[in-house]
Amino acid sequence: MASGEAMRRRHPLLGVALLSALATAIGIAIVLSIDWFPSQASTAAKDIDELYYVLAVVSVPIFVLVMAVALYSVFAFRVRPGDMRDGEPIHGNTRLEIVWVTIPFIIVSILAAYGWVVLNDIEERKQDTLTVDVTGQQFAWSFEYPEQGKLQSNQLVLPKDRPVRFRVHTKDVLHDFWVPHFRLKTDAVPGLTTDIRVTPSRLGTYPVVCAELCGIGHATMRQSVRVIPAAQFDSWVDEQRQGKSDGGVAAAGGDKTAAGRQLFTDTGCDACHALADAEATGSVGPDLNDIAAAAARYGKRQSQSPTEYVKNSITKPNTFIVPGFREGLMPETYSEQLSEAEIDTLVEYLLGVGKEKDAQ
Ligand code: CUA
Repeated sequence: MASGEAMRRRHPLLGVALLSALATAIGIAIVLSIDWFPSQASTAAKDIDELYYVLAVVSVPIFVLVMAVALYSVFAFRVRPGDMRDGEPIHGNTRLEIVWVTIPFIIVSILAAYGWVVLNDIEERKQDTLTVDVTGQQFAWSFEYPEQGKLQSNQLVLPKDRPVRFRVHTKDVLHDFWVPHFRLKTDAVPGLTTDIRVTPSRLGTYPVVCAELCGIGHATMRQSVRVIPAAQFDSWVDEQRQGKSDGGVAAAGGDKTAAGRQLFTDTGCDACHALADAEATGSVGPDLNDIAAAAARYGKRQSQSPTEYVKNSITKPNTFIVPGFREGLMPETYSEQLSEAEIDTLVEYLLGVGKEKDAQ
């Protein structure tokens, strides 16, 4: 007991150092035990996760050191009752200053070099790369495969193990193309094309998220990416082409309603409109549960049949705005994005299911 007391008097910081070492060990154990990331679905994911774990582990002792010095100072140098003296003037400590500049400089340089090596690996150009154009607009993503005869699609489908280069654009404001499972994220900037490379390495369906506050429908600007076996990719492309010419009816097993529902969701209509049949609850644009009655009413005013009215609302949305909604909210690009047959499928579907049931 006596010798412990003597030691404490000789080394007043020993206790602090021991406590700090304990706090560091606990901190690192906590950091490593948390599952920070979703599953790894691209070849870069492992390296990126390791980099983040290293960064997190390195920050623990730094955090503990700063907190230990701060807390120690608060207790050791606090003012005693009745002590009205000024603090002693301090004129610097060259040795200490050299240490606290040099050590962080070394740590930051090593981490920067490590980060650069990882980034360089991710951005490496690989052979047999598939190019996909990604376009963001309020409030949906659309995709084009320039090497597959400029196939336009509202779904992102990628072959497994084939390097992909995304060229990201936007038609309106800033969006941010993010696939958390790929550890891939890049801004879609008006007037610019941003590039990002990824090699999907795991089959499955993963969320595609917009990670930039882009307007009222931002939170609903979510789609998904499907990674399929490379051997199935060509037949998917053929199926999509077929869908362009028959409105997706064959792919839905001849069921027109199912084809329409699929198109409604794939095109991202559900982000802005409510429609019970498609389990859509968007409120940016008009509720489509009673579109049949609305189309009859508003169509009549413009001497259009309900079919013409709905078609017009999809392809030229700003020629008539439903009272209570703002002009320019609905993108004017669906006439390019969807084929004639797809628009027909969609119109027929909406008029078929968009009848508010009186019985309910
Ligand atoms: Cu697009 Cu948020």
